[in-house]
Amino acid sequence: MGRRSPVIRSRCIGGSGMVADPVELEYSETPEPMWNPALRALPIPGIRRMVNMAAEMDDVIHLSIGQPDFPVPDHVIEAHIDALRHGQTGYTMDAGLPELLETIAEYYADRYQRPIAPENVLVTTGATEAIYLALAATAAPGRQFLVPDPSFPLYAPLIRMNGGEVKAIPTRAENGHQLDPQEVIDNIGMRTFGIILNSPSNPTGTVYPRETVEAIVQEAAYRGVYVYSDEVYDHLLLDDLQYASVLNCTSDLDHVMMMSSFSKTYSMSGLRIGWIISSQGAIKKLRRFHIFTTTVANTPAQWAGVAALRGEKTCLDSMVAEYRRRRDRVVQLVSDAPHLTGYWPQGAFYIFPSLPPNTDATTVAIRMLQETGVCVVPGDAFGDSCPNSLRISFSASMDDIEEAFERVIPWLAKQRF
Ligand SMILES: Cc1ncc(COP(=O)(O)O)c(C=O)c1O
Repeated sequence: MGRRSPVIRSRCIGGSGMVADPVELEYSETPEPMWNPALRALPIPGIRRMVNMAAEMDDVIHLSIGQPDFPVPDHVIEAHIDALRHGQTGYTMDAGLPELLETIAEYYADRYQRPIAPENVLVTTGATEAIYLALAATAAPGRQFLVPDPSFPLYAPLIRMNGGEVKAIPTRAENGHQLDPQEVIDNIGMRTFGIILNSPSNPTGTVYPRETVEAIVQEAAYRGVYVYSDEVYDHLLLDDLQYASVLNCTSDLDHVMMMSSFSKTYSMSGLRIGWIISSQGAIKKLRRFHIFTTTVANTPAQWAGVAALRGEKTCLDSMVAEYRRRRDRVVQLVSDAPHLTGYWPQGAFYIFPSLPPNTDATTVAIRMLQETGVCVVPGDAFGDSCPNSLRISFSASMDDIEEAFERVIPWLAKQRF
C-alpha cells in the first residue's frame, strides 16, 4: 500500500471527545474494593479499542476521527495568545468570564430571536463537562431517560452511573436514523424524567426537522419531562436547512438544557470551552456543582471563545463547504461498496451505514483494519441497536477518503456475510 503513516497523532485524538492516550481502560471489570462500583457503568470505549489497535500498525487511514481536521481560525488563536500575554491567567467568575457569558447570551438571543440573559448561561470545560453536569446533577434511581440508540457514548453511561435508567429509542439506517417523535412520545411513561436529543447526531449525521424537535419539546414540557439537547454540531449543516434548536422550539427554558461548545464549529476541541443554556434557576444549581468539579473553564480559552463568536464567520462557511463536498463523495462511495447500506446524512461529519442483518460489525471492523489498514468504528460503540453498523467519519482529507475506499471496496467484495 506504501503510503505515509497514520493521518492522526494517536496520542491526541479524541475519537468521540473522549480521553486520548492509548492506555488500557480496564477499570470497569476490576474486582478491587477501592473503586466506586458506579464506575462499572462506564464501558470500555469502543472507539478507543479500535484506535489503540491502529496505533500498533503502520499505514493506517483513519475514518474514525471525531474531531475537525481544520486549523483553529487565526483570529481565535491571536485572541488566545493575547489573553495569555495580558495576564488573563487567573480564575474567572464561576459561571464563566463575564464577557463570554454576555457574548453567548447575545449570540443565541439574536440567532433565535428570544430573550436569553447571561444568567441563563454556564461556561464549562467543553460540552463534555456540560453534559456531565446536566446528567450527573439530575439522573437518580427511579428516573428514566429516553436516549436515541445509536447515540454519542457519554449519555447512557453517565445516566446509569448516577443510578438512572436508560430506555433506548432505536433509529434505523432505512429511515436515515430519524427519530420518530410519536415513538418518543409513546415511550414517555410514569418514570420518564428526561429525553436526550442530539442533532446533528454523532454517530449518524442525522438532522432532526423542526417538527420533531418541537413535538418532543412541547409534549415533554406538558408532561413535566426535561429535554437535554446536545447541539455541538449545530453549525455543521450540509444541506440548505434551518436548524431546529430546542431554544427556538420552546416558550420558556424551564424544561430544557442545551449543551454546546466551540469544539466542532471552530475546530477548537483542544481548547475545551463549552456551555449550558437553561433557566436561571437551573443554572444557579449547576453553578454550584460546577464549582465542585472543575471550578472554572480555562481563562485564555474563554477569551478565544469571545473572539470566535464576535469575529468574522467566513471561515465556517469554507469548513462546511468542504464537509459537504466530502459527504457527497462518501455517500457515493458507500453506495458503491458491496454489503453497505447508506443514506443521506445532513449534518456533522459522519455516516453510519449498515452491513447485512446479523453481521457482527466489530469483527468486520477489526478484520478490515488488520487487512486493509482502514480504521472505522463499529456500531456497538454507540449502543445496542446497531451491532451491524459502522461509523465512518469524513473528518479526513479527500485523498484519504478516496484511498480508504479504494482499499475497502475490493475487500468487501470478497466477504461473505
Ligand atoms: C455529540 C457530541 N457531544 C459532545 C461532544 C464533546 O464535545 P467537547 O469537545 O466540547 O467536549 C462530542 C465530541 O465528539 C460529540 O460528538
